[in-house]
Amino acid sequence: MPHAPSSPTPTTARRSGPLSGRLRVPGDKSISHRSLILGALAVGETRISGLLEGEDVLNTAKAMRALGAQVRRTGDGAWSIQGVGVGGFADPAEALDFGNSGTGCRLALGAVGGCPITATFDGDASLRKRPMQRVLDPLARIGARPLAAADGGRLPLTLAGARDPIPIVYEPPVASAQLKSAVLLAGLAAPGETTVVEQEATRDHTERMLAHFGAEVRVEPHGTHGRRITLTGQAELRPAVVRVPADPSSAAFPLVAALISARSEIILEGVMTNPLRTGLMTTLREMGAAIDILELRNEGGEEVADMRVRASSLCGVEVPAERAPAMIDEYPILAVAAAYAVGVTRMRGLKELRVKESDRLAATADMLRHNGVAVEIEGDDLIVEGKGGARGGGHVATHMDHRIAMSALVMGLASDAPVAVDDASFIATSFPGFVELMRAAGADLA
Ligand code: S3P
Repeated sequence: MPHAPSSPTPTTARRSGPLSGRLRVPGDKSISHRSLILGALAVGETRISGLLEGEDVLNTAKAMRALGAQVRRTGDGAWSIQGVGVGGFADPAEALDFGNSGTGCRLALGAVGGCPITATFDGDASLRKRPMQRVLDPLARIGARPLAAADGGRLPLTLAGARDPIPIVYEPPVASAQLKSAVLLAGLAAPGETTVVEQEATRDHTERMLAHFGAEVRVEPHGTHGRRITLTGQAELRPAVVRVPADPSSAAFPLVAALISARSEIILEGVMTNPLRTGLMTTLREMGAAIDILELRNEGGEEVADMRVRASSLCGVEVPAERAPAMIDEYPILAVAAAYAVGVTRMRGLKELRVKESDRLAATADMLRHNGVAVEIEGDDLIVEGKGGARGGGHVATHMDHRIAMSALVMGLASDAPVAVDDASFIATSFPGFVELMRAAGADLA
């Protein structure tokens, strides 16, 4: 059965008083998915704390259970997994439903692709539109094959994993951490070395976590912006303790809300500052944002920081295409900051935004346009003409996309007229408690 979304929740944001307080956003989505999948592939008990308990990650937990791992919630954000070992997945009795999540689905395709089992993958109407062929291509070289798929290799699809997985050297045609991760996860069961050569480095949580679980992984620089990642296969993964840091992609929403709402000052606690995730911070600082790092520390293998954010006058900037992988999920909220800046912001090289939970390039432009902001798409670039504010008054279609919903609501916290979204229910995929957390900081959301 495909995932049934909860009933639509129209929500409106109104201009709010200054935002204040200490806020901790939920655990990182990328690390949460990976900790469940690697826990399921290790032999013995993995313990996770701070897991993001959003719908996307809960669907991955269910999928790992359906594949044979024991997955238990032991407390708030605390989970225990008894893994089955690399190559140890069993045929699931029913289709695996990944709901809205490209990450859960593509990483699980990789993990299943290296096992001699057959599984059906499905998701909601948004996920059914997203490209999966990009993952099926390298998996075919490894020895996995789709038995059935919708047009263009889309979901629902049934994958027969490789009986004797072949180690490959793979150069992804697009900068995608999901694609890289799928290949590495399939390569876990292959003899010899599986190598991914990236022209542009993407988030490195899979390779870091594989090493944390005891696999042999080598990472070398490649070209100007790339990396070459080599995994030694037929690895025996050891169970691990994983502490999930706060998600910088979720922190982005209260952060920009504080920047654009007059006299705001907030502290964001324990936000992960992995350099492959901090493109938004770099860009906002170039725009003049007052973001101070109060305390930098290492938590469970990742650098995290408490950040103080104060309302700031922003100016327009050029965002280079090579920064896109380090802020790929942050463009909708950056576009909101750009509307409140003075001057033109040009964000280059956003082709991949067209295949996110929605066509995010179009959805972001529509969101701004409906609220009186001058915006254009030129090729793969998004150009926002900032006038230091937004008229608001728009009704935004979120297209089953959590980040469009949150961006639009943040925009409405400082616009002249309120901003309404048709459906805020998808926010629960990545940021459960968003509305409550923002309200506690002083946001007028209803
Ligand atoms: C993710 C990778 C990115 C990102 C997504 C999470 C991951 O997708 O947009 O939200 O955890 O690997 P792509 O790999 O498709 O760029």
